[in-house]
Amino acid sequence: MDSIRIKGGKTLKGRIPISGAKNAALPLLASCLLTEETLTLGNVPHLADIITMSNLLGQLGVEISLNGTAPGGYTGRVMELKAATLSGITAPYDLVRKMRASILVLGPLLARAGEAKVSLPGGCAIGSRPVDLHVTALQKLGAEITLDNGYIHARAPKGLTGGEIIFPMVTVTGTENAMMAATLAKGETTIVNAAREPEVVDLAHCLVAMGAQIEGIGSDRLRITGKDKLHAARHNVVPDRIEAGTFAMAAAITNGEMELIGAKLEHLNSVATILAEAGVDITETSEGLMVRRLNSLNGVDVMTEPYPGFPTDLQAQMMALMCVANGASMITETIFENRFMHVPELKRMGANITVHNSSALVRGVPLLTGAPVMATDLRASVSLALAGLAARGETTLNRIYHLDRGYERLEEKLAACGADIERIKEAA
Ligand code: UD1
Repeated sequence: MDSIRIKGGKTLKGRIPISGAKNAALPLLASCLLTEETLTLGNVPHLADIITMSNLLGQLGVEISLNGTAPGGYTGRVMELKAATLSGITAPYDLVRKMRASILVLGPLLARAGEAKVSLPGGCAIGSRPVDLHVTALQKLGAEITLDNGYIHARAPKGLTGGEIIFPMVTVTGTENAMMAATLAKGETTIVNAAREPEVVDLAHCLVAMGAQIEGIGSDRLRITGKDKLHAARHNVVPDRIEAGTFAMAAAITNGEMELIGAKLEHLNSVATILAEAGVDITETSEGLMVRRLNSLNGVDVMTEPYPGFPTDLQAQMMALMCVANGASMITETIFENRFMHVPELKRMGANITVHNSSALVRGVPLLTGAPVMATDLRASVSLALAGLAARGETTLNRIYHLDRGYERLEEKLAACGADIERIKEAA
């Protein structure tokens, strides 16, 4: 497996283009199953998870072409997806095991084909992450669901019917699955306590472009009136707020100054507020956001919450930043259990962190030192890369398979801003 070597201590300066959001692109790709006509997506990031989702859709009979002709205004990669006829209804264990977001085909497959089988995701590096809320939401739309040999087997031979779905807790992909299924259900569906993440909003806008009727987009209450059919549409994937937030922290941790091209402040308000408290300035420019550290970095308390709160997907990166701040910081994770796998690795780089249940007390140290490290999830991995950028000496980041799942050309983008970073290819 490849690794990344970082020699820390360089101040990052420059411009970084922000890619399309992985977590928006995945449900958008799955939504092609809802229509027999072509869905054209622009600004699709080139990531391992996108390839996994494409492989899954290919197995279900979707014809996919990459780099199709870019319609006006499109940026990034363009993908054309056509699910003219479906050749299967199963998301097999091998693919779901690799990528939990494969569950996103459950709602659209069931709505379109009247039947879907998706493997249960199984254990996950960031806690147990059940899918019970996806299942109960689809049951509310009339699906019969059984568990067969580790597979969720959902059936609605006469089609789905609208209903009221009340989520007891906010679930991003659960809301997306329910929303996609409801677009083809008979009658009206209400989703209460819906996730409001920009990726959910992006999916809703694309579904509307495909002919769906959705009211309350961006709120926690969605009303969807089902249609007999959806049709062809073109849509650009929203910029990745988590990638932008990660690079904002890279600028902060290296005392640098970076312009994040394409990043949107409206999607990063909670992050910008916390960073401002810590002494990092984020301002809008004509092309995106400018991030610069004002003076010294101060410890601040952070609690993860569903959007518009501070995202759990930036918790590890924020912790890396707090490791070198003045004073102490309390970081509380409320979304996922067991999402502190980066802590022992940061400690190996000299960080002073104590974990009590779901909170981590970080006492800032003047300097981290490079070390060989590895992580078992995407955001934990990138937090170690941030720590490496600030550390004295060399950091080797192993198991970077996780980074490639969610960050497009990470080392290239950072190197272009002055980081001493390189990918070491594993010897054949
Ligand atoms: C999505 C994101 C992920 C992000 C997370 C929270 C994608 C592809 N992934 O994951 O990057 O970290 O939102 O912002 O968009 N839960 C249940 N039962 C369920 C579903 C969820 O108990 O059926 C719990 C989870 O264990 C967790 C909480 O609900 O504690 C929120 O999880 P959820 O929003 O569903 O996360 P994902 O959609 O999987």
